Amino acid sequence: MQTFIENMPKAELHVHLEGTLEPELSFALARKNNVELGYATPEELVAAYDFYDLPSFLTIYYGAMKVLQDEADFYQLTWNYLSKAYSQNTVYAELFFDPQAHTSRGVDFGVVIRGIRAAQEDAESKLGVKSQLIMCFLRDMSAESAMEHLLMAEPYRAWLVGVGLDSDEKNNPPVKFAAVFKKAREMGLKLTMHCDVNQQNTLLHIGQCLDDIEVDRIDHGVNSLESDALCDAIKARGLGLTVCPVSNRFVVQSLTSAEIRRMLDKGMLATINSDDPAYFRAYLNENLVELQREGNFSNEEIATLVGNAFRVAWLPAQEKNTYL
Ligand code: ADE
Ligand code: ZN
Repeated sequence: MQTFIENMPKAELHVHLEGTLEPELSFALARKNNVELGYATPEELVAAYDFYDLPSFLTIYYGAMKVLQDEADFYQLTWNYLSKAYSQNTVYAELFFDPQAHTSRGVDFGVVIRGIRAAQEDAESKLGVKSQLIMCFLRDMSAESAMEHLLMAEPYRAWLVGVGLDSDEKNNPPVKFAAVFKKAREMGLKLTMHCDVNQQNTLLHIGQCLDDIEVDRIDHGVNSLESDALCDAIKARGLGLTVCPVSNRFVVQSLTSAEIRRMLDKGMLATINSDDPAYFRAYLNENLVELQREGNFSNEEIATLVGNAFRVAWLPAQEKNTYL
Protein backbone atom coordinates (compact mmCIF):
# COMPACT_ATOMS: atom_id res chain seq x y z
CA MET A 1 0.00 0.00 0.00
CA GLN A 2 2.81 2.43 0.85
CA THR A 3 4.35 1.92 -2.59
CA PHE A 4 0.92 2.33 -4.21
CA ILE A 5 0.55 5.69 -2.44
CA GLU A 6 4.10 6.83 -3.20
CA ASN A 7 3.80 6.00 -6.89
CA MET A 8 0.47 7.75 -7.51
CA PRO A 9 0.55 11.18 -9.17
CA LYS A 10 -0.96 13.44 -6.52
CA ALA A 11 -2.24 16.97 -5.98
CA GLU A 12 -2.05 19.02 -2.79
CA LEU A 13 -4.53 21.85 -2.17
CA HIS A 14 -3.83 22.88 1.42
CA VAL A 15 -0.22 23.62 2.23
CA HIS A 16 1.05 26.85 3.83
CA LEU A 17 4.41 27.77 2.29
CA GLU A 18 5.54 29.20 5.63
CA GLY A 19 4.57 25.84 7.14
CA THR A 20 7.13 24.13 4.91
CA LEU A 21 10.04 25.96 6.59
CA GLU A 22 12.25 23.05 7.63
CA PRO A 23 14.55 23.50 10.66
CA GLU A 24 17.66 23.07 8.49
CA LEU A 25 16.57 25.94 6.21
CA SER A 26 15.73 28.03 9.30
CA PHE A 27 19.29 27.57 10.51
CA ALA A 28 20.82 28.36 7.11
CA LEU A 29 18.74 31.54 6.72
CA ALA A 30 19.35 32.60 10.34
CA ARG A 31 23.09 32.41 9.71
CA LYS A 32 22.80 34.28 6.39
CA ASN A 33 20.57 37.03 7.83
CA ASN A 34 22.21 37.30 11.25
CA VAL A 35 19.09 36.26 13.12
CA GLU A 36 19.27 34.70 16.58
CA LEU A 37 17.13 31.53 16.69
CA GLY A 38 17.70 30.66 20.33
CA TYR A 39 18.50 27.00 19.63
CA ALA A 40 21.87 25.33 19.05
CA THR A 41 20.79 22.75 16.44
CA PRO A 42 17.85 21.93 14.16
CA GLU A 43 17.14 18.93 16.42
CA GLU A 44 16.85 21.21 19.43
CA LEU A 45 14.47 23.43 17.50
CA VAL A 46 12.23 20.47 16.57
CA ALA A 47 12.27 19.31 20.19
CA ALA A 48 10.79 22.69 21.14
CA TYR A 49 7.77 22.18 18.82
CA ASP A 50 5.13 21.90 21.50
CA PHE A 51 1.64 22.42 20.09
CA TYR A 52 -1.68 20.96 21.14
CA ASP A 53 -4.15 23.40 19.61
CA LEU A 54 -4.30 26.13 16.94
CA PRO A 55 -3.02 29.09 19.03
CA SER A 56 -0.05 27.14 20.47
CA PHE A 57 0.92 26.13 16.92
CA LEU A 58 0.50 29.63 15.48
CA THR A 59 2.85 31.18 18.08
CA ILE A 60 5.69 28.91 16.94
CA TYR A 61 4.78 29.24 13.24
CA TYR A 62 4.82 33.08 13.22
CA GLY A 63 7.92 33.30 15.44
CA ALA A 64 9.97 31.19 13.02
CA MET A 65 9.22 33.48 10.05
CA LYS A 66 11.76 36.10 11.17
CA VAL A 67 14.45 34.28 9.15
CA LEU A 68 12.58 35.01 5.88
CA GLN A 69 13.81 38.42 4.77
CA ASP A 70 14.67 38.81 1.11
CA GLU A 71 13.46 37.54 -2.25
CA ALA A 72 16.05 34.75 -2.30
CA ASP A 73 14.73 33.45 1.05
CA PHE A 74 11.16 33.16 -0.29
CA TYR A 75 12.53 31.57 -3.45
CA GLN A 76 14.43 28.96 -1.41
CA LEU A 77 11.43 28.19 0.80
CA THR A 78 9.19 27.64 -2.22
CA TRP A 79 11.79 25.77 -4.25
CA ASN A 80 12.47 23.39 -1.36
CA TYR A 81 8.76 22.58 -0.96
CA LEU A 82 8.23 22.05 -4.70
CA SER A 83 11.35 19.83 -4.89
CA LYS A 84 9.97 17.78 -2.02
CA ALA A 85 6.62 17.58 -3.84
CA TYR A 86 8.47 16.33 -6.93
CA SER A 87 10.19 13.62 -4.86
CA GLN A 88 6.76 12.46 -3.63
CA ASN A 89 5.07 12.41 -7.06
CA THR A 90 2.97 15.44 -6.14
CA VAL A 91 2.55 16.89 -9.61
CA TYR A 92 0.30 19.84 -8.78
CA ALA A 93 -0.01 22.09 -5.71
CA GLU A 94 -2.05 25.10 -4.66
CA LEU A 95 0.12 27.06 -2.25
CA PHE A 96 -1.05 29.32 0.57
CA PHE A 97 1.06 32.24 1.70
CA ASP A 98 0.51 34.77 4.51
CA PRO A 99 1.73 38.20 3.30
CA GLN A 100 0.58 40.05 6.45
CA ALA A 101 2.94 37.91 8.53
CA HIS A 102 5.78 39.45 6.48
CA THR A 103 4.67 43.03 5.82
CA SER A 104 4.03 43.39 9.58
CA ARG A 105 7.79 42.66 10.03
CA GLY A 106 8.77 45.25 7.43
CA VAL A 107 9.19 42.86 4.49
CA ASP A 108 7.78 44.31 1.26
CA PHE A 109 4.83 42.51 -0.36
CA GLY A 110 6.62 42.47 -3.72
CA VAL A 111 9.71 40.81 -2.22
CA VAL A 112 7.53 37.96 -0.90
CA ILE A 113 5.50 37.30 -4.02
CA ARG A 114 8.35 37.73 -6.52
CA GLY A 115 10.52 35.23 -4.64
CA ILE A 116 7.69 32.69 -4.50
CA ARG A 117 6.75 33.19 -8.16
CA ALA A 118 10.32 32.71 -9.44
CA ALA A 119 10.53 29.34 -7.68
CA GLN A 120 7.13 28.30 -9.04
CA GLU A 121 8.28 29.05 -12.58
CA ASP A 122 11.54 27.14 -12.10
CA ALA A 123 9.76 24.14 -10.55
CA GLU A 124 7.37 23.96 -13.48
CA SER A 125 10.05 24.24 -16.16
CA LYS A 126 12.77 22.14 -14.46
CA LEU A 127 10.76 19.57 -12.47
CA GLY A 128 7.38 19.56 -14.21
CA VAL A 129 5.65 20.39 -10.91
CA LYS A 130 2.84 22.87 -11.57
CA SER A 131 1.57 25.15 -8.80
CA GLN A 132 -0.78 28.07 -8.25
CA LEU A 133 -0.78 30.62 -5.46
CA ILE A 134 -3.52 31.46 -2.92
CA MET A 135 -3.09 34.59 -0.83
CA CYS A 136 -4.39 34.15 2.71
CA PHE A 137 -5.57 36.89 5.04
CA LEU A 138 -4.87 36.56 8.75
CA ARG A 139 -8.30 36.52 10.38
CA ASP A 140 -6.96 37.78 13.71
CA MET A 141 -5.93 41.00 11.96
CA SER A 142 -8.45 43.64 10.86
CA ALA A 143 -10.63 43.56 7.76
CA GLU A 144 -9.01 46.90 6.80
CA SER A 145 -5.57 45.28 6.77
CA ALA A 146 -6.92 42.42 4.66
CA MET A 147 -8.37 44.92 2.16
CA GLU A 148 -5.07 46.86 2.02
CA HIS A 149 -3.27 43.63 1.16
CA LEU A 150 -5.82 42.72 -1.50
CA LEU A 151 -5.12 46.12 -3.08
CA MET A 152 -1.35 45.52 -2.80
CA ALA A 153 -1.90 42.28 -4.73
CA GLU A 154 -3.69 43.96 -7.64
CA PRO A 155 -0.51 44.48 -9.73
CA TYR A 156 0.24 40.76 -9.21
CA ARG A 157 -3.32 39.57 -9.92
CA ALA A 158 -2.16 37.22 -12.70
CA TRP A 159 0.05 35.34 -10.23
CA LEU A 160 -2.85 34.46 -7.93
CA VAL A 161 -5.60 31.88 -8.38
CA GLY A 162 -7.51 32.65 -5.20
CA VAL A 163 -7.67 34.02 -1.68
CA GLY A 164 -8.04 32.23 1.64
CA LEU A 165 -8.53 32.97 5.33
CA ASP A 166 -6.36 31.44 8.04
CA SER A 167 -4.87 32.01 11.52
CA ASP A 168 -6.81 32.11 14.79
CA GLU A 169 -10.50 31.43 14.21
CA LYS A 170 -11.70 32.32 17.72
CA ASN A 171 -13.93 35.45 17.52
CA ASN A 172 -12.94 35.93 13.87
CA PRO A 173 -15.91 34.67 11.82
CA PRO A 174 -16.02 34.59 8.00
CA VAL A 175 -18.47 37.54 7.83
CA LYS A 176 -15.81 39.84 9.32
CA PHE A 177 -14.21 39.64 5.85
CA ALA A 178 -17.35 39.73 3.67
CA ALA A 179 -16.37 42.95 1.83
CA VAL A 180 -12.80 41.75 1.21
CA PHE A 181 -13.96 38.45 -0.26
CA LYS A 182 -16.61 40.20 -2.35
CA LYS A 183 -13.90 42.37 -3.90
CA ALA A 184 -11.66 39.33 -4.41
CA ARG A 185 -14.52 37.60 -6.25
CA GLU A 186 -14.95 40.71 -8.44
CA MET A 187 -11.23 40.45 -9.26
CA GLY A 188 -11.94 36.95 -10.59
CA LEU A 189 -10.24 35.17 -7.72
CA LYS A 190 -11.47 31.88 -6.25
CA LEU A 191 -12.45 31.89 -2.57
CA THR A 192 -11.66 29.51 0.27
CA MET A 193 -11.60 29.80 4.06
CA HIS A 194 -10.30 27.73 6.95
CA CYS A 195 -12.89 26.15 9.25
CA ASP A 196 -10.39 24.37 11.48
CA VAL A 197 -11.34 21.26 13.44
CA ASN A 198 -13.25 21.79 16.72
CA GLN A 199 -13.23 25.59 16.79
CA GLN A 200 -15.76 27.66 18.69
CA ASN A 201 -18.91 28.33 16.59
CA THR A 202 -17.59 26.07 13.86
CA LEU A 203 -21.04 25.21 12.42
CA LEU A 204 -21.94 28.89 12.31
CA HIS A 205 -18.64 29.62 10.53
CA ILE A 206 -19.17 26.84 7.97
CA GLY A 207 -22.70 28.16 7.35
CA GLN A 208 -21.34 31.69 6.81
CA CYS A 209 -18.76 30.34 4.34
CA LEU A 210 -21.59 28.81 2.33
CA ASP A 211 -24.30 31.45 2.57
CA ASP A 212 -22.58 34.80 3.17
CA ILE A 213 -19.23 34.38 1.43
CA GLU A 214 -20.22 31.71 -1.12
CA VAL A 215 -16.82 30.04 -1.02
CA ASP A 216 -15.53 27.76 -3.77
CA ARG A 217 -13.91 25.38 -1.26
CA ILE A 218 -13.55 24.89 2.50
CA ASP A 219 -10.24 24.22 4.25
CA HIS A 220 -10.66 21.47 6.87
CA GLY A 221 -14.45 21.58 7.38
CA VAL A 222 -14.50 18.26 9.28
CA ASN A 223 -17.16 19.50 11.72
CA SER A 224 -19.67 19.89 8.87
CA LEU A 225 -20.46 16.21 9.55
CA GLU A 226 -22.36 17.34 12.66
CA SER A 227 -25.04 18.92 10.46
CA ASP A 228 -26.96 17.09 7.73
CA ALA A 229 -28.02 20.44 6.27
CA LEU A 230 -24.38 21.60 5.92
CA CYS A 231 -23.31 18.26 4.43
CA ASP A 232 -26.17 18.41 1.93
CA ALA A 233 -25.26 21.98 0.93
CA ILE A 234 -21.55 21.16 0.55
CA LYS A 235 -22.43 18.15 -1.57
CA ALA A 236 -25.03 19.95 -3.67
CA ARG A 237 -22.52 22.69 -4.52
CA GLY A 238 -19.75 20.19 -5.26
CA LEU A 239 -17.42 21.90 -2.79
CA GLY A 240 -14.11 20.28 -1.96
CA LEU A 241 -12.96 19.91 1.65
CA THR A 242 -9.20 20.06 2.19
CA VAL A 243 -8.72 17.78 5.19
CA CYS A 244 -5.33 17.53 6.92
CA PRO A 245 -5.08 14.27 8.92
CA VAL A 246 -1.73 14.71 10.71
CA SER A 247 -2.53 18.36 11.47
CA ASN A 248 -5.84 17.25 13.02
CA ARG A 249 -4.03 14.78 15.27
CA PHE A 250 -2.47 17.68 17.19
CA VAL A 251 -5.94 18.94 18.08
CA VAL A 252 -8.19 15.87 18.30
CA GLN A 253 -5.64 13.05 18.87
CA SER A 254 -6.82 11.19 15.79
CA LEU A 255 -6.16 11.37 12.07
CA THR A 256 -9.95 11.82 11.65
CA SER A 257 -10.03 8.68 9.50
CA ALA A 258 -13.57 7.84 10.68
CA GLU A 259 -14.76 11.30 9.65
CA ILE A 260 -12.99 11.07 6.29
CA ARG A 261 -14.65 7.71 5.62
CA ARG A 262 -18.05 9.23 6.45
CA MET A 263 -17.37 12.02 3.96
CA LEU A 264 -16.54 9.45 1.28
CA ASP A 265 -19.65 7.42 2.12
CA LYS A 266 -21.77 10.56 1.76
CA GLY A 267 -20.18 11.40 -1.59
CA MET A 268 -18.52 14.56 -0.27
CA LEU A 269 -15.34 15.62 -2.07
CA ALA A 270 -12.77 15.16 0.71
CA THR A 271 -9.10 15.63 -0.18
CA ILE A 272 -5.96 14.84 1.85
CA ASN A 273 -3.32 17.49 2.54
CA SER A 274 -0.32 18.26 4.72
CA ASP A 275 -1.14 21.82 6.02
CA ASP A 276 2.21 22.69 7.69
CA PRO A 277 4.40 19.69 6.87
CA ALA A 278 7.70 20.96 8.31
CA TYR A 279 6.05 21.42 11.70
CA PHE A 280 3.81 18.36 11.71
CA ARG A 281 6.69 16.28 10.28
CA ALA A 282 4.55 14.76 7.51
CA TYR A 283 4.27 15.67 3.81
CA LEU A 284 1.50 14.38 1.55
CA ASN A 285 2.72 10.77 1.26
CA GLU A 286 3.13 10.46 5.03
CA ASN A 287 -0.36 11.87 5.57
CA LEU A 288 -1.84 9.32 3.16
CA VAL A 289 0.15 6.37 4.53
CA GLU A 290 -0.69 7.13 8.16
CA LEU A 291 -4.33 7.80 7.33
CA GLN A 292 -4.61 4.51 5.43
CA ARG A 293 -3.19 2.63 8.41
CA GLU A 294 -5.51 4.25 10.94
CA GLY A 295 -8.65 3.89 8.82
CA ASN A 296 -7.72 0.70 6.94
CA PHE A 297 -8.71 2.37 3.67
CA SER A 298 -8.75 0.26 0.49
CA ASN A 299 -6.70 1.10 -2.62
CA GLU A 300 -9.92 2.26 -4.24
CA GLU A 301 -10.75 4.63 -1.37
CA ILE A 302 -7.23 6.09 -1.41
CA ALA A 303 -7.51 6.54 -5.19
CA THR A 304 -10.83 8.37 -4.68
CA LEU A 305 -9.28 10.72 -2.10
CA VAL A 306 -6.31 11.44 -4.38
CA GLY A 307 -8.59 11.84 -7.41
CA ASN A 308 -10.81 14.27 -5.49
CA ALA A 309 -7.91 16.71 -5.18
CA PHE A 310 -7.69 16.90 -8.98
CA ARG A 311 -11.50 17.07 -9.27
CA VAL A 312 -11.74 20.16 -7.02
CA ALA A 313 -8.44 21.77 -8.06
CA TRP A 314 -8.69 25.28 -9.48
CA LEU A 315 -7.57 24.20 -12.92
CA PRO A 316 -9.41 24.31 -16.25
CA ALA A 317 -11.49 21.14 -16.76
CA GLN A 318 -9.39 20.07 -19.73
CA GLU A 319 -6.19 20.24 -17.68
CA LYS A 320 -7.71 18.36 -14.72
CA ASN A 321 -8.82 15.56 -16.97
CA THR A 322 -5.23 14.83 -17.96
CA TYR A 323 -4.64 13.75 -14.33
CA LEU A 324 -7.90 11.82 -13.77
N1 ADE B 1 -1.88 28.93 9.41
C1 ADE B 1 -1.04 27.94 9.11
N2 ADE B 1 -1.63 26.75 9.33
C2 ADE B 1 -2.87 27.00 9.78
C3 ADE B 1 -3.98 26.20 10.16
N3 ADE B 1 -3.95 24.88 10.13
N4 ADE B 1 -5.09 26.82 10.59
C4 ADE B 1 -5.15 28.15 10.61
N5 ADE B 1 -4.17 28.94 10.25
C5 ADE B 1 -3.02 28.38 9.84
ZN1 ZN C 1 -4.18 25.36 7.03
